[in-house]
Amino acid sequence: MPTEATLAGDTLIGRIWHELERATRERDHAWRTPVLATVGSDHTPQARTVVLRGADQQRGELRVFTDGRSPKVAELRASLQAVLVFWSAPLNWQLRVRVAMQVLDSGAEVAAAWERIARSAAACDYLAPAAPGQPLPGSEAQADAPGDAHHLTVLVAQVLAIDWLALGRDGPHQRRRITPGGVEHLVP
Ligand SMILES: Cc1cc2nc3c(=O)[nH]c(=O)nc-3n(C[C@H](O)[C@H](O)[C@H](O)COP(=O)(O)O)c2cc1C
Repeated sequence: MPTEATLAGDTLIGRIWHELERATRERDHAWRTPVLATVGSDHTPQARTVVLRGADQQRGELRVFTDGRSPKVAELRASLQAVLVFWSAPLNWQLRVRVAMQVLDSGAEVAAAWERIARSAAACDYLAPAAPGQPLPGSEAQADAPGDAHHLTVLVAQVLAIDWLALGRDGPHQRRRITPGGVEHLVP
């Protein structure tokens, strides 16, 4: 692994996207499950773990799948500003990625995503008859059996800025702000 101290701007950006892309394929990659933070409908912060489903450096886009009826989707429709936070202990890197989120609930991309998910164990997550977060009736109630219609929604995160923090194992910490304007060194 190259030492963080040797990573110049372009190399660092390439390394970050390489790790993000790996995380979409490798189940045990620490960046597979970032925290997605949104602005709640009551204007308070909201945050939850999600699975990173896509990373495209050319387009500057990350992708997450969710249930279109979940509260986060309503929040994102009201305010598309969001942040994805990634931490990797093996890399010793934290990423705070500021994004503008687009909600796709129909169309070719959603159909292709459902093709992929429908064959996996995760399919039932998107087939529940009741919306996520709804109270279950009864004290020991179980969720209803899956319905026929899926509620898979693709969240497309356009990356606006990346705050990269590398914790130095034997040396100083490093921090960079990466935007379309360039790479800026920050006090960690
Ligand atoms: C490891 C892990 C992975 C998760 N992945 C997703 C995901 O990819 N998409 C999703 O909508 N929720 C995912 N969840 C559930 C969310 O954290 C959250 O509980 C749910 O989406 C409801 O969030 P909301 O009420 O803020 O909309 C995951 C939870 C865990 C613990």
